[in-house]
This record gives sequence, structure tokens and C-alpha cells, in this order.
Amino acid sequence: MNKLTIKDIDLANKAVLMRVDFNVPQDEKLNITDDTRIKATLPTIKYILENKAKKLILISHLGRPDGKVVAKYSLRPVAERLSQLLGEPVEFLSDCVGEKIRQEVKASRKRVVLLENLRFHPEEEKNDTEFAGQLASLADIYVNDAFGTAHRAHASTEAVTRYLESAAGFLLEKEIRYLGNAIENPARPFVVILGGAKVSDKIGVIENLLPKCDAILIGGGMAYTFLKAQGKTIGNSKLEKDKIELALTILEKAKSLKKDILLPIDNLVVDNIDPPLNQEIVGEDVPEGKIAVDIGPKTIALFKNKLKGAKTIVWNGPLGIFEIEPFSKGTKSIANFIAGLSVTSIIGGGDTAAAMSKFKLEDKMAHISTGGGASLEFMEGKTLPGIAALTDIK
Ligand code: 3PG
Repeated sequence: MNKLTIKDIDLANKAVLMRVDFNVPQDEKLNITDDTRIKATLPTIKYILENKAKKLILISHLGRPDGKVVAKYSLRPVAERLSQLLGEPVEFLSDCVGEKIRQEVKASRKRVVLLENLRFHPEEEKNDTEFAGQLASLADIYVNDAFGTAHRAHASTEAVTRYLESAAGFLLEKEIRYLGNAIENPARPFVVILGGAKVSDKIGVIENLLPKCDAILIGGGMAYTFLKAQGKTIGNSKLEKDKIELALTILEKAKSLKKDILLPIDNLVVDNIDPPLNQEIVGEDVPEGKIAVDIGPKTIALFKNKLKGAKTIVWNGPLGIFEIEPFSKGTKSIANFIAGLSVTSIIGGGDTAAAMSKFKLEDKMAHISTGGGASLEFMEGKTLPGIAALTDIK
């Protein structure tokens, strides 16, 4: 990476403005249900404090409040959790810009300050220069450790870098290293697993990774548009009619590039998803009226066989509706199998990361991305504005 990282910067006595992605899931009582994204920033936070920064000012969004103050999207509960995890008090301030906030940041005796949700101001998502200038005026240096938001050109990720020397934090750097190496310089064989509901979400990833990988294994709802394209019957399974043609083109391209695309050869099907009714395993063809909800045992064996010699695995999208216990077998068996391999396993964020956490396999994977949309765009080969905007190494 030809960008400054915090290791390149003298932090002593500096006020550091750091963009983090504390967009964490909460329950109805606003309890944080998964603090992975908060924990993932701790190495950078600790490093900044150990290197004697004068103050660390953290900024983030939470949810999509659309430029208005929406109480349930307050970052206050995050400040409490962060302070527990860090083992020192974190000052929470009720806004992120304005003279009052500037004074409060200055006057705070705490080393770490978390400002209120950036997206309470419409200027944040508009990448507003003046708003970014106000954020920048709080500090001497800007650090971006918010990989999950790196695909957004917002004031706190892009415009702010026009004002301050801007460096990547350890989390951002790690994400780029794992995802970037896998895509540009993978140890081979390099096998990609794609799942999730929609083909349309994964087209960019397939187009970018097909020429680079050795095989793609496809499961989840998106598999049935491919099976339909091959002339199989898919019953009432998920179908994107307008993507059948494209699925066919992808399959033909794979053939001409001599890359394997493996699709389900058997399926778990039901008459109704919730509650599950009349589960049975069928072959490649899904009978009329049935809905495929998971890959079957033969497909699990087929996928394992392809994965067993792999040196790099990138996985984005679950292989069935894993949130519903009886339909989680495919995703779970493949996850457990990968966990036992000696392989660089890279898990895209969002649903796939949630599945690993449900199966308690987080520690068994080489890297689980904290980005949902960001990791997808990275795998599509797109330039992420939050990364591009950082200061280049001279
Ligand atoms: C995410 O959860 O993917 C990031 O925090 C970005 O959120 P956004 O999609 O609302 O920009």
C-alpha cells in the first residue's frame, strides 16, 4: 500500500481525529449485540495512546438517520462499551461539530473522546467541504480505521483528508493486506465461495475474480438463477429472471477460461420456509412447488473436495438460509471444514461474518472482514474513496 499508516507518523503530543466504523447491531433496548467492529479498532486506539498522542477524537456513523437527529442512532451506548473494552473512561460528546464541541474537546480531561453520530448532519453524506473542515479543525492528524465505510465518499472519509495529513490505522491496513493479497497475489489453488440471495449483488465480484481464481463454488439463493440458466427446474426457489442470460454468459466465460464453477448437485427443499414444512433432499432439479433453502449432502461433499487442496479461500455469502437452524447445515459444514484446513481463509463481512460468529468459528479463519458493502466493492476491484484519499507515501 502506497499510503501513510500510523506507523509513519510522530503522534507525540498530537490531537488525532480518527474515523472508525462503530455502526454496530443493537437490539430494541439499544444493547449492542455484536461489538466486533469496536474490538477491531482497539489495536489502533491503544497504539495511538501508547505513542503519547495528546488526545484521540473518534468519529463514526451509526445506522442511516438521514441527516437528522434520531435518538436510537446515538453513539452513546458505544462510548460505554468502548470504555469497558479499553479499560479507561471515554468522553462522549453530544454533537460532532460547532464551537461548543470544539471547546468541550479541548477541555476534556479524558484521553479518548467519542463524538455523536456524524450522520445526524446531512453534510456528512454530501461530502461537504465546510463540514469536513470543522471536523479537521479539532485535530492535528487524521487517521482512518473505518474499513466498513471506506466505500463511501463522505465528509469524514474523503473531504476531511483535504485538511490534514491522513494515515491508515491498523484495521484498515490489515483489511487491505488480506483482501488485496488474496485478489492480486493469491497462493494457489485459489477457490472462491459465493452465496447469498441475489446474483445481482455478486456480478461485480464474479467478473473480477473469475479470471484470477481457480474455481468458484456457488450456493445460496443465487445458485438457482444459474441452475435455471442450465435448463434445470428450480420449483419456487429464488430466481432473478433478468439475470438468467448473464448467468449463462458467466458459465460460458468460465468454460473458455478453463475455470470451474461448481453449482449445487442436490438441495434441501421445503414447501414453506418459516415455519419449515416438509423438508427433503432432492437432486439438481427442484420439483414444482418446492423451495430450495440449503445445499444438500452431495454438494457439501463436492465443495469440500474442491476446497481441500486450496491455499487461498475467499468466501462471500452464505450457502443457505443459515439463520434458520434446519437450513444452516451447508454453511456450517463448509465453515467447519475450512476451519480445519491449513489455508488462508478470508471471509467477506456482513452475513458471512455473522454466520462465522453464529458457529463460533471467528478465531479459526485467517481474516474476517469488518466491511459488508466495502469488502464486496473491494473484491469487485473498485477503488474505495476512503483509501484513495489517504496521504500517499512520497
Ligand atoms: C456497513 O455497515 O456496511 C457500514 O457501516 C456502512 O454503512 P452504510 O451502508 O449505511 O453506509
